[in-house]
Amino acid sequence: MTILGIETSCDETAAAIVQDGTRILSNVVASSIQLHAKTGGIIPEIAAREQIKCILPVIKQALKDTKIQRYKDTKKKNKNSPNILVSQYPNIDAIAVTIGPGLIGSLLVGVETARTLSWLWNKPIVPVNHLKAHLYANFLNQQLNKRTIEQSVFPAIGLIVSGGHTDLVLIKNHGDLKWLGGTRDDAAGECFDKCARLLGLGYPGGPAIETCASKFNNRTIEQLNNEAIKLPRPMINQDNFDFSFSGLKTAVLNHVKHFKLMEQWNNRTREQLAFQLQEAITDVLVTKTLNATQKFKVKSILLGGGVAANSLLRKKLNVKCQMSNVKCFVPSAQLCTDNAAVIASYAYFNYKPVPWKKIKPNPGLVISSP
Ligand code: KG4
Ligand code: ZN
Repeated sequence: MTILGIETSCDETAAAIVQDGTRILSNVVASSIQLHAKTGGIIPEIAAREQIKCILPVIKQALKDTKIQRYKDTKKKNKNSPNILVSQYPNIDAIAVTIGPGLIGSLLVGVETARTLSWLWNKPIVPVNHLKAHLYANFLNQQLNKRTIEQSVFPAIGLIVSGGHTDLVLIKNHGDLKWLGGTRDDAAGECFDKCARLLGLGYPGGPAIETCASKFNNRTIEQLNNEAIKLPRPMINQDNFDFSFSGLKTAVLNHVKHFKLMEQWNNRTREQLAFQLQEAITDVLVTKTLNATQKFKVKSILLGGGVAANSLLRKKLNVKCQMSNVKCFVPSAQLCTDNAAVIASYAYFNYKPVPWKKIKPNPGLVISSP
């Protein structure tokens, strides 16, 4: 089964064509991140306007990249003809679209486009929860099918770490997912983004902090021990699966203020804070995730969301999983951040089409929604 996925929940406009939930035939992402870098964060109105500009070119590119067969292709000479969208695609079986969570203006662009194509091409349409879809990055480009996933991956613990969410879920099977806990305030990605701003680094904060921290990382352990700044690990010892990251941001702010007051604010102190912040966030995420695997005696861990691209998080999780004999699934960094291949994959494994008239965006969609 071949599915066209469409994703426009935030500042990425994405379309992908995926076969049988795992084989990526095309995967196109246009990002307005450079525009948001100028303002240090996302302005929803600007994100929505960019979605409108990008959506049709991105879908056309995804269709062209697969060289998928189409009918009624009358203007073959002009490859850029808008006709590519009004053709019929016998090899596409369904359309999948993110309906939430996300920014309403951005979501509307993807949802309305998917509804129109569903009507025009007469294809079924599957509404997708963007958060759950992040976990399906683990199955893309893998030699897996529905049966092998059910037998060798599930039950699993999913850790979804993105710019707006930090959630731990128990996955017994496709479509059988239980929310265990999440952040009570800032998400892990939000903490990276806000602290990067405090440290005078760029947006998005996660990659900027990772690069800055790696410079400090290169120095000797003795130096680190002598000079180390200690940051808290919020809620790490609590017997629940909740997180809290806003206190970490305040701790970073206090250190920055202190260094500035003492006239010690320089690249070295900035790198040290970035290093310690990354250590603190990843320690909490890994500890809580491992606690959940032990409590629910699962076979594997599935990591997903933009923060899953963080090398330290991936490394720590892999090491702990090896020690506790749990399989660790970590997607390629490119598939961690927002893309439409995960939307198409999720729709294949959780195939529940809905009449196009009933599809609506839901910005506040939660993980426990069906
Ligand atoms: O999933 P995503 O692309 O968009 C949302 O659905 O939110 O996640 C974006 C988040 C941002 O907060 C960004 O700073 C973070 O993922 N991120 C990272 C890294 N790459 C992206 N955080 C830590 N380390 C990274 N390498
Ligand atoms: Zn996301």
